[in-house]
Amino acid sequence: MISSDKIPNNVDLHLNKRLQRALEHWQPAYIQWWRDMGPQGFQHFHEIYVRTAISVDAAGWAHFEYVKLPEYRWGIFLADPVVNRTIGFGDFFGQPVWQEVPGEFRNQLRRLIVTQGDTEPASVEQQRWLGHRCPSLYDMRNLFQVNVEEGRHLWAMVYLLHSYFGRDGRDEAEDLLARQSGNQDKPRILEAFNEPIDTWLDFFMFTMFTDRDGKSQLLSLSESSLDPLARTTRFMLTEEAHHMFVGDTGIHRIVERTCQLMKESGFSEDVRRLGGIDLPTIQKHINLWFSLSLDLHGNEISTNAASYFANGLKGRAEEGKWTEHRVIETTYDLDIVENGAVKREAVPMRNAMNEVLRDWYVDDCQSGVTRWNKTLEKYGFSDRLRLPDRKFNRGIGQFASIHTDPDGHMLSDDEWARRKYEWLPSPADKKYLLSIMNQPIYETGKFANYIAPPARGVNRTPINFEYVRTEM
Ligand SMILES: [Fe+2]
Ligand SMILES: [Fe+2]
Repeated sequence: MISSDKIPNNVDLHLNKRLQRALEHWQPAYIQWWRDMGPQGFQHFHEIYVRTAISVDAAGWAHFEYVKLPEYRWGIFLADPVVNRTIGFGDFFGQPVWQEVPGEFRNQLRRLIVTQGDTEPASVEQQRWLGHRCPSLYDMRNLFQVNVEEGRHLWAMVYLLHSYFGRDGRDEAEDLLARQSGNQDKPRILEAFNEPIDTWLDFFMFTMFTDRDGKSQLLSLSESSLDPLARTTRFMLTEEAHHMFVGDTGIHRIVERTCQLMKESGFSEDVRRLGGIDLPTIQKHINLWFSLSLDLHGNEISTNAASYFANGLKGRAEEGKWTEHRVIETTYDLDIVENGAVKREAVPMRNAMNEVLRDWYVDDCQSGVTRWNKTLEKYGFSDRLRLPDRKFNRGIGQFASIHTDPDGHMLSDDEWARRKYEWLPSPADKKYLLSIMNQPIYETGKFANYIAPPARGVNRTPINFEYVRTEM
């Protein structure tokens, strides 16, 4: 028997027996999924120093302990309700928010929740081999922290499905465990979640850029008229912030180490000789993960996005910062492709909501790049990292039909085919990265040669803290 405290929660689960039973029924399937598809090789004998949310206040949120991963206490937490909250945008602007799902929006809301939910276990699956190539125990612990929290995000979405969508919701919750990243027959819903993430450079890029798309989406859902969805996603955002910290600082530490190696080698850019990761390789990975994550925001012009906005299901990021919330007459200028050429066109802003969210996202990404460049500057290098043009390497939307270089200049198909590995990671780059990562570092306080140690440890621990301990 699983008692209610096996599912830590702040939703009074014990008062809703039907829901409690449904979740207790789903829980063993989840644990089985975690064992099969979660971090491989670190489930039985390793104890990881992780943070577990036991409540949403600061104290309950900063609770650290050693756990074996399958024993992590995945729970259900909603941010505290905002008293008298009203709908902040769209056609129902100013009306009270909903505590139940309105029948007419049931399908749309289910689709939004399932699409978000699907990305959570997908990323755990994509990252499941990385422990075997970790650059340090500090990094391994961060990886597993991200993984257990993505697992918790799945719980968050499953809670909503079970609570508000009846039978359909229960079926969807099962399917969330049945689809698998990269599986031919039952792939994950979004394409970017079907590729394995097998190097740590990719992992840091994923947490920097793709988790940040998660942040965009969660910000827009946290504005939702469906109050339980808003409260769930608001708490998820606090966890998401840590994922992006892992990505941002991970790349920063690699850049720092690359600077050190370049200096050691007499300002040569060829740091591969010294086992480092050269700047062009870092830039190529920025180009790849930034463009993939732009795709995740969807088509520039979208009637779905317009309808989500009109119906109050999904707002803009930080909706409160906008002055006008119905957005009926406002237009938005965006680049569209017509007869193979790019031109600017004004479209109704509601139809451009994906692009509006993408604007927020691009700005948020830029702040990270600016920080990394400060380090290049500090070491006296004139090289700079940058985000590629939005049109570069796109698979979804207006620019999927054209090829451009990272500056956004159009290229012929031939030229693209000939030159794309100047800008994107090549098979040889990947082979190199795997070659410097195939010896994991399991010694406390030691770091792989290609990455600098972090500025400080987790939860005020020293950097040589035993973040992962082995029980034999
Ligand atoms: Fe997540
Ligand atoms: Fe995340």
